Amino acid sequence: MAAPMTGKRCLVIGGCGFLGQHLCEELIKREWNVSVFDLRKTFDNPKIKFFLGDLCNKEDLKPALEGVYCVFHCASPAPLSNNRALFYKVNVDGTNNIISTCQEVGVKRLVLTSSASVVYEGQGIKNGREEELPYAEKPLDYYTPTKILQEKLAILPPHIAQSKHKIYSEPANLILTSRDHSIGTIQIALSFALDCDSIVKTEHPT
Ligand SMILES: NC(=O)c1ccc[n+]([C@@H]2O[C@H](COP(=O)([O-])OP(=O)(O)OC[C@H]3O[C@@H](n4cnc5c(N)ncnc54)[C@H](O)[C@@H]3O)[C@@H](O)[C@H]2O)c1
Repeated sequence: MAAPMTGKRCLVIGGCGFLGQHLCEELIKREWNVSVFDLRKTFDNPKIKFFLGDLCNKEDLKPALEGVYCVFHCASPAPLSNNRALFYKVNVDGTNNIISTCQEVGVKRLVLTSSASVVYEGQGIKNGREEELPYAEKPLDYYTPTKILQEKLAILPPHIAQSKHKIYSEPANLILTSRDHSIGTIQIALSFALDCDSIVKTEHPT
C-alpha cells in the first residue's frame, strides 16, 4: 500500500548523474520536495535545491540531510575506473558515512542503488532471481567488490529482516538496496521509498 509522499523532502545523492537525474524527474512528477547532493552541478531545475560536496565528508553531508525523510544513494565513481582506492573510499567508507549521518539526523529511509554486477561472474543468469543469488566470488573489476561491501553495510546493522530484494534495518532507519536493473532501478527505488508491494511504473526504462 503506497503511503502519500507529496511534499515530503528527499535527497538524491549523486543526483547529477545518469540515474540520479532521471530519478529526480520522477520524484518531482510525484510532487516530492527534492534536493540533490553531488560533487558537481550538471543541470538546473528551479524545483531542486542543490548541495555541492563530497559524500565522504560528514560536514558536507549534514546540512543536506536536515529535515529529509528519504535518501536515495545513487553516487559512485565510474565503474570502468582503475582507481581501486577511490572505489573503497566512496562506495564503502562514504556509504558508511551516509548511513551513520542519516541515523544521526533521523532520516527515516535510505535507498541504496546496488548493481547486478555483485552476482555476475561472466555467465548469463539462467536460474533464479538476481536478489536470491550468492555474491560473485571472482568479481570482474575493482568496482564490484566495493558494491558487494556496500550491500553488506546495509545488511549488517542489527534487527534486520530480509524479504526478496528488500533489506530492512529496524527500528530507526529503513535501508534498502536495489540490484535488479532488469526491472528498472528507478521503479524499484520509488517502490521502496513508497513502501509499495508492487513496482511503481515510470516513463524511464533506467
Ligand atoms: N548506470 C548503470 O547502468 C548502473 C548499473 C548498475 C549500477 N549502477 C549504480 O547506480 C548508481 C548511479 O549510477 P550512474 O550510472 O547514474 O552513475 P553516474 O556516474 O552517472 O553518476 C554518479 C554521480 O555520483 C557523483 N559522485 C561520485 N562520487 C561522489 C562523491 N564522493 N560525493 C558526491 N557525489 C559523488 C558523481 O559526480 C555523479 O554525478 C551507482 O551507485 C551505480 O553503482 C548503475
